[in-house]
Amino acid sequence: MNTYKVHFLPDDVTIEVEEGTNLLQAAMQAGVHINASCGGSGVCGKCRVILEGGELESARTDLISPKDYEEGYRQACKAWVRGDLHIRIPIESQLDARALTRARPSPSAHRMAEEIGVERLISEEKFDPPYVKLLVKMAPPAPGDNISDLTRLVNALRSQHDVHNLEIDFKVIKILPQVFREGHFEVTVTLAYRPSHLNGTNPSDIDLTDIQAGDHTKANYGVAVDVGTTSVYVQLLDLNTGEILDTAGDLNRQLSYGEDVISRIIFGGKEGGLQKMQDLITGTINNLLEKICRRKKIDPDDITMMTAAGNTTMTQLLLGIDPKYIRLAPYVPTANYYPPIRARNLGLAVGEHVRINVFPAVSSYVGGDIVAGILASRVYQEPELTLYIDLGTNGEIVVGNQDWMACAACSAGPAFEGGGVKFGMRATDGAIEDFAINPQTLEPMILTVGMKKPKGICGSGLINTVAGLFEMGVLDERGRFEQGLDTPRVREGEDGWEYVLSWADETQIGRDIVLTEVDIDNLIRAKAAMYAGYQTLLENVGLSMHNLDRVIIAGGFGRYINLEKAILIGLLPELDLDKCTFIGNGSLQGARLACLSNTLRLEVMDILSKMTSFELSEVPNYMEYYVSCQFLPHTTREFFPGVLERIQQTRSLVRK
Ligand code: FES
Repeated sequence: MNTYKVHFLPDDVTIEVEEGTNLLQAAMQAGVHINASCGGSGVCGKCRVILEGGELESARTDLISPKDYEEGYRQACKAWVRGDLHIRIPIESQLDARALTRARPSPSAHRMAEEIGVERLISEEKFDPPYVKLLVKMAPPAPGDNISDLTRLVNALRSQHDVHNLEIDFKVIKILPQVFREGHFEVTVTLAYRPSHLNGTNPSDIDLTDIQAGDHTKANYGVAVDVGTTSVYVQLLDLNTGEILDTAGDLNRQLSYGEDVISRIIFGGKEGGLQKMQDLITGTINNLLEKICRRKKIDPDDITMMTAAGNTTMTQLLLGIDPKYIRLAPYVPTANYYPPIRARNLGLAVGEHVRINVFPAVSSYVGGDIVAGILASRVYQEPELTLYIDLGTNGEIVVGNQDWMACAACSAGPAFEGGGVKFGMRATDGAIEDFAINPQTLEPMILTVGMKKPKGICGSGLINTVAGLFEMGVLDERGRFEQGLDTPRVREGEDGWEYVLSWADETQIGRDIVLTEVDIDNLIRAKAAMYAGYQTLLENVGLSMHNLDRVIIAGGFGRYINLEKAILIGLLPELDLDKCTFIGNGSLQGARLACLSNTLRLEVMDILSKMTSFELSEVPNYMEYYVSCQFLPHTTREFFPGVLERIQQTRSLVRK
């Protein structure tokens, strides 16, 4: 794809972007402020720019008069880069953006980092999916050839595919006569190759799990599932090629019974509660399965296997195992290993032959989702000392390398996923995901997912907004609004003081979208739980942030996080940005890898053997650190010297 330079004036900032990039997004990436409070949906009319030269695809809109259009005025959110450009931001759209002209990693760069990591892993390892489909052609029985159907099949598999040591599911034997004759003795068998390390069997041992009439060898699908406390993702994989065919996500239906794992455990302990919890999670997964099968027009019977990764509580609820001992000292999970389980027995709407491989947990609060993320990020095979952070409702942390790993969990609450926030929502169309503020007018520049009219704010938008407001002095270090500012955006609302991100007439919901001090408190508590967690963990293994070679950030929204903003609010330690890598949804990626490679499934047990779990609530310093982290960025100012200097500089530009 072609890339072009966009030169913004009067800031004199140039950014290189791919052809077709939206001009407002290019400005946001460049740190150039353009007033925009409708998220780029085209209704507020505040994003006017002047095209001074170059190629820009931008038709006239109702908000630009024919005369202004003639003079070069364009609506930035309705303009796409088609060549090198010179763009002037007129005075009404920006006043003084110097405070914002700092480079930030672009969202597209984040996505690349994620993809490169996993593709490398797959290409380096032998691509050996645990389940394969083979076509077997047999001669029908005849006088003098009346061996049993089963013997005929076993003989054919040996002679045609060199397959030995078969274990055959009795359910397959029961349907052999019908399937053979329906397919005129041409059948597709599904074979599961067992990783020897997991169950102590010979690696050549094979289970015959399914048989279909005719040739189904091209339709061999795996499903990877990330069972999150807040969100659930299902990914459809082609087991013949390793290709991701589709991904779908939805809120976990258990959310109606509490946002965190503790409330789910408590509900699970009530009469009928465990079954209800299992039904809700399998219902969520089934709904997503149905959606991706319909979208990709595949027969669910061609799904061959599933893998799932989730935190310990979510895993046990999926399996219908009472998780109550997870929350009772000394916090014991039921198992650190689960055998492959017939998925239909859990309530999953797949063929009877489908087995689900569930990632094992390290401890009660460091679950299979983290093990999956470590598998995907390869921390366990590389010498660099790595801090792996999974940002989510249940924040999890791993520190270590190829020789050892220490891990811990901390309850961050749902703020990172838009929960517990007045206008919080998942990162779907209309969610405010990026924010900048004009230092002179305090007007916002927001971008929404899909550039649709705003309807709420997602986790990354929350971080970016709080960081922007704090940097500009609209918020103080306790997360309280300055009340004497000359802007109608900061006002006292029904829940206390708030900042108006988007006025009602610019939104999809017909109400002002605001960020309240209660929302900010929730974010501050979430980031404090995380920071105190990795501070405690590092100190317990005799290390500090200075020892780290790299930081890997996982989590559903991790790839959209703006590192500088995350550091600015004290969610991440102040460190060299080059040390950070994004891996996106590590849990889903690990589940995907386990679907595609028996070799990698074996390595899951290596990961478990290297991990030592710390229980933060039993470490005396944790609570003390947690309290001192409940400020922006931190009560210990020496931890964030760069942030404090930046804030000082920025605020000097703000109109008094
Ligand atoms: S009209 Fe372009 S951002 Fe609102």
